[in-house]
Amino acid sequence: MSLTITVFVSLLIISLISTPSMSSLESFVFGGCSQLKYISDSPYESNVNSLLTSMVNSASFTNYNNFTVQSPSSSQDTLYGLFQCRGDLSNGDCARCVASAVSQLGTLCLDSCGGGLQLDGCFVKFDNISYFGMEDKTVVLKKCGPPIGFESDSFTRRDAVLGYLGGSDGSYKPYRVGGSGDVYGVAQCVQDLSATECRDCVSDAIGRLKTDCGPAAWGDMYLAKCYVRFSERGAHSHGGNDNNNDEEIEKTLAILIGLIAGVTLLFVFLSCLRNACERGKDGK
Ligand SMILES: *[C@@H]1O[C@H](CO)[C@@H](O)[C@H](O)[C@H]1NC(C)=O
Ligand SMILES: *[C@@H]1O[C@H](CO)[C@@H](O)[C@H](O)[C@H]1NC(C)=O
Repeated sequence: MSLTITVFVSLLIISLISTPSMSSLESFVFGGCSQLKYISDSPYESNVNSLLTSMVNSASFTNYNNFTVQSPSSSQDTLYGLFQCRGDLSNGDCARCVASAVSQLGTLCLDSCGGGLQLDGCFVKFDNISYFGMEDKTVVLKKCGPPIGFESDSFTRRDAVLGYLGGSDGSYKPYRVGGSGDVYGVAQCVQDLSATECRDCVSDAIGRLKTDCGPAAWGDMYLAKCYVRFSERGAHSHGGNDNNNDEEIEKTLAILIGLIAGVTLLFVFLSCLRNACERGKDGK
């Protein structure tokens, strides 16, 4: 009994510690599904399931991979899937992120022929139309922070950071980070792009950040195959969503702490009871 309680308490403590950091990697950024639906219990559905399972398994070994699931019966059932984790994630974090993305995608795009989902730490996509190696600079999500003025030091530093992210040192870097003072930036391509396509996509995103966001404290520009984000330290780069998230985490923490306190009390009560019983027996 007491062992079960101890294990339960430790589990709660582990989830208490790991919740905040994981939930930020797994924060929802955007998602979309194709209009077409497949028939339930069809070969298509089993191909989707096997594709998504392969992605989750593969993510514990590599930050990027692509999959083609051929169907012998019909070419319409051939599926193409890929995942891309942010370049700085460990294999463990990448696997957790992709698992979360795949499960969110399953709910969001129930029975859809295709779908894509971007979390903070990873991107997953599947469809029965091939898109591997195709550059796509469609704007999927754009968010700009409050203006800070063209004259500010931060604005100069932002330009330096974006300049670095868009520059090239000859090697292919699908993931780049840059910082200047308190301004931090990150660029990430989906690795099915070639070096040239990745650079082109990133420079397009940077151009849009500059024109669309102007002198903003932070900006997120997600194109279909790459994204660029920058932020001043302390400036929130998710606007309202993140605050809600923080509130959610606080609520969860409060509930967990309450549970732990309750369980501890129960534990203390039970051991008192046992001691009392033993004393009772001794007294006989
Ligand atoms: C994708 O699957 C849907 C539903 O099975 C089908 O209608 C569509 O033609 C397929 N597209 C391709 C390119 O095979
Ligand atoms: C797909 O993955 C294979 C290895 O798994 C790799 O050789 C190939 O270059 C990848 N294709 C694209 C378009 O990324």
